Amino acid sequence: MSEGLFLTLEGIDGAGKSSHLDAMEALFKARGRTVVRTREPGGTPLAETLRGLVLEQAMDPLTESLLVFAARRDHIVQVIEPALARGDVVLCDRFTDATFAYQGAGRGFDTQLLSTLEQWVQGGRGAAGLLLQPHITLWFDLAPEIAAERLAGARLPDKFESQPVEFFRRVAAGYAARAAADAPRFVRIDASQTRDQVWQQVETALVARGALAPATGAAR
Ligand code: TMP
Repeated sequence: MSEGLFLTLEGIDGAGKSSHLDAMEALFKARGRTVVRTREPGGTPLAETLRGLVLEQAMDPLTESLLVFAARRDHIVQVIEPALARGDVVLCDRFTDATFAYQGAGRGFDTQLLSTLEQWVQGGRGAAGLLLQPHITLWFDLAPEIAAERLAGARLPDKFESQPVEFFRRVAAGYAARAAADAPRFVRIDASQTRDQVWQQVETALVARGALAPATGAAR
C-alpha cells in the first residue's frame, strides 16, 4: 500500500484556493490515487454542524477555538486518519494553520493555548507521540485589499468574510508567521496572478514536492 498524502490549502477569504480543488483532484486521480476531498471546519456530520455554529454565531475567541478544534478532532478520527492509513490523498480545504491565522492572529487569541489544543487534538501518533500535520500546505497569499475586492458581491458574507480589511491583514500576517515557522511544509502561491498562472504554480509545486509520483505519497 502507498503512503497517504495529507495536503492542505490555506489563505485568507477571497484568495481563490478552493477554485483549484477540482483540478487538483483530477490530477491525483489521473495518477491512480484515491482522493478524499474535505474541508475544515467540517468534513463529518458533527463537524459540519459545528461549522454552522462557528460561521454564523457570535462567540468569544476561546469558545470559537474550542469548537474548531472539537470539529477537527472528529474530522481526524473519522476521516483523515483512516484515509491516510489506506494510502489515500487527503485534499483538505483549511486545517490548523487557519486556527492560528484567524483565532490567533485575527482575533488576537493566545497562541500558546492554541498550541496546547493542537497537541491534544493532533498529538499522540505512534510510539513517538508525533503531531499529525499536513505533508504539504499550499498557502494562497493575496493582499487583503485585493481579496476584499474579489469577495465583494460574490455571495452573502459569513461571520469572517464580513470582517474589515484590518482583520484580514492580521490573518495574512498570521499565515506568514506560521509559514516561516514551518518552511519545509509550506509552499507560497502568489494568488495575485491570473487563475491559469496560479494553477501553474500549484502544479509546479506538487511536481517539485514529489506529490504526483505514482503511488508513493509525499517525500518529506
Ligand atoms: P471557508 O470559507 O474557506 O470554507 O472557511 C470557513 C471560514 O472559517 C473562513 O473564514 C476561515 C474560518 N476558519 C477559522 O476561523 N478557524 C479555523 O480553524 C478554520 C479551519 C476556518
